Amino acid sequence: MSGSIMIDRPAFAMPGVSHEYMTPELVHDLPEDPRAWVPRPGGGEFLPRMFDTLTGVIVNLNRYRRPGMLGRHLHGSAVYAYTLEGSWRYAEHDWVAKPGSFVFESPGETHTLIVEQATMVGFFVWMGGYQIVDENDKIVKVENVLSLIDACDKHYRECGLGPDYVRQFIR
Ligand SMILES: [Fe+2]
Repeated sequence: MSGSIMIDRPAFAMPGVSHEYMTPELVHDLPEDPRAWVPRPGGGEFLPRMFDTLTGVIVNLNRYRRPGMLGRHLHGSAVYAYTLEGSWRYAEHDWVAKPGSFVFESPGETHTLIVEQATMVGFFVWMGGYQIVDENDKIVKVENVLSLIDACDKHYRECGLGPDYVRQFIR
């Protein structure tokens, strides 16, 4: 675990109630610094767009610049994905997502993301965390909004972007 990150926020938010210490806007252009992309197991690169620590939602770009995969996994919540470049598929299905393809993943379905050609970029909204499982469906790793904040923070510290870099993505 890298350094813990404390977030000032109300215990709850209500429409019409002002919370001056909240910053509702979160606008990011695509960063020019290539170190913003966080290398992930399986050859992918993860660019956070927003970590919503109130709901656990993780909004991100996933990129592969060479063939790779995200190992067998399942989500506890829905996933919405929009393919921007390249192609990808799940080993368990016969469709192939191409630029413009929208993919909905229902909670609880186990699948293996495969990128067979160089370059894939997809915009993903993970409504919650996911579990990596082995061939016997035994959970071998759990990822959620907090573990991914930690992974990004660790990368940003190690690559020189610094301990504050990840904060811009957190709400
Ligand atoms: Fe998935």
